[in-house]
Amino acid sequence: MKNADYLTGITTSGTPHLGNFVGAIRPAVATSKDPDLTSYYFLADYHSLIKNHDPAKRRQSTLEIAAAWIALGLDHDNCLFYRQSDIPEIPELTWILTCLTAKGLMNRAHAYKAGVQENEAAGTKDPDQGITMGLFSYPILMAADILMFNARKVPVGRDQVQHLEMTRDIAARFNHVYEKLFVLPQVVVDDNTAVLSGMDGRKMSKSYNNYIPLFDTEKRLRKMIMKIQTNSLGPDEPKDPDTCTLFSIYRAFATETETKTMADRYRQGIAWGVMKQELFEYINAILAGPRQRYDGLMKNPGDIEAILAKGAEKARAFLFLFWKESGLPWVFGHWASF
Ligand code: TRP
Repeated sequence: MKNADYLTGITTSGTPHLGNFVGAIRPAVATSKDPDLTSYYFLADYHSLIKNHDPAKRRQSTLEIAAAWIALGLDHDNCLFYRQSDIPEIPELTWILTCLTAKGLMNRAHAYKAGVQENEAAGTKDPDQGITMGLFSYPILMAADILMFNARKVPVGRDQVQHLEMTRDIAARFNHVYEKLFVLPQVVVDDNTAVLSGMDGRKMSKSYNNYIPLFDTEKRLRKMIMKIQTNSLGPDEPKDPDTCTLFSIYRAFATETETKTMADRYRQGIAWGVMKQELFEYINAILAGPRQRYDGLMKNPGDIEAILAKGAEKARAFLFLFWKESGLPWVFGHWASF
């Protein structure tokens, strides 16, 4: 049984947008099809519990994200695609790792420190006000996600690099205290992966609310693209492609030749209205097929659940076989039944 070559988690909050597509989904879909690789993609719904205490919203987001990945071509027969909360061994390992993790290590986590800084800036008496243990120790849950499957490589955004360093620290600690069981995973940050701008020109993100959903109706997609901010240059006036949000989105989808041609048209002074219409048509042509599949899946959530159930079964079968041969059952009480 092969170990995980690539593993990454997607927090189940919000609705999938164009930025998620070019940043995470598109590269993962490509990897998922490689017959020589074992890749693991999972819906990190326990992570979403940190900020979202509304079960209906979490379920909706889980379904939307799963449907989006499937509709965009994830090869869920070749890779493993599952929901974190379907694998009870993950929170079990989390606790075992928690008992090996120095509190001081968690004190240094960016997300926790940002929370403390916000409190200090607001002048609250308690610097930990409003901060849960979930937020504080979430790097340990992430470490369990990764170590559980002995993942070699973990593709993530820059903001997650520190969590991977912590995962390696925690793995090394476990290997030292018990047995040398865990691979120290490598972080993979691909600087060539497009980072998309949102409608206001800042990075497209849920937190800025400047995103364009992947699978809204065609009409809504058009409307959102028409709303993207531009400058006030008139038709026929030469324009700079490199500072233009429309162009940066176009480039993330188009081929190199198409991008060059479009840059020339900018210099010749393409009108904003024309560019917006073309951008809409270009993206819509790419999304039309997946949109149909997405709508079909969202109408039949049972189909999504069946795919996730199959993924969880495969993932747990891997755990069973893999750890049975290793020393892990020796470390874990009930795992001795393996
Ligand atoms: N914390 C990651 C994020 O916010 C999501 C995540 C959870 C993850 N578990 C993971 C990513 C394990 C990689 C590996 O983006």
